[in-house]
Amino acid sequence: MFEAERPTGTKPQIYRELALMAEGLFRGERDPVANAANLSALLWLGLTDLNWAGFYFLRASGLVLGPFQGKPACVRIDIGKGVCGTAARDRKTLVVPDVEAFPGHIACDIDSRSELVVPLLEGAHLVGVLDLDSPSRARFDPEDAKGVETLAALWVAASDQI
Ligand code: SME
Repeated sequence: MFEAERPTGTKPQIYRELALMAEGLFRGERDPVANAANLSALLWLGLTDLNWAGFYFLRASGLVLGPFQGKPACVRIDIGKGVCGTAARDRKTLVVPDVEAFPGHIACDIDSRSELVVPLLEGAHLVGVLDLDSPSRARFDPEDAKGVETLAALWVAASDQI
């Protein structure tokens, strides 16, 4: 079903292409888990130099692991803890060039060196975070943040929230 090649070009071009692909994958489907699973796979296949890509959903107890690609990860993260919990608490995208320099970083995968976490917002309401990890330092820049924010917004708009 998915036969497209990894997009190439500048980062904005790559993210534009990934956004078109995501819209295609979401078309006709409103299940949030199915769409999150496909977006994780799209990021994993479409971007280079990642070791983890996936979702944490907001539940009553905090963040809980959702669909992802990469090694098995921490299941629960408290709001305000780690990069994910901090991005969730502040409802702000976090680009962390060196996870070892981030106080409280949660090392799910010891290979991770940099991280990008985008809050999933339905209006002002937080539904989770989208997390990308890389084995390279400073893998993510503001263009990645903008591109992944666009993909996160497409997922929110395309999916009925639980
Ligand atoms: N490093 C994250 C935890 C999630 S894993 O990277 C998949 C954090 O500090 O929140």
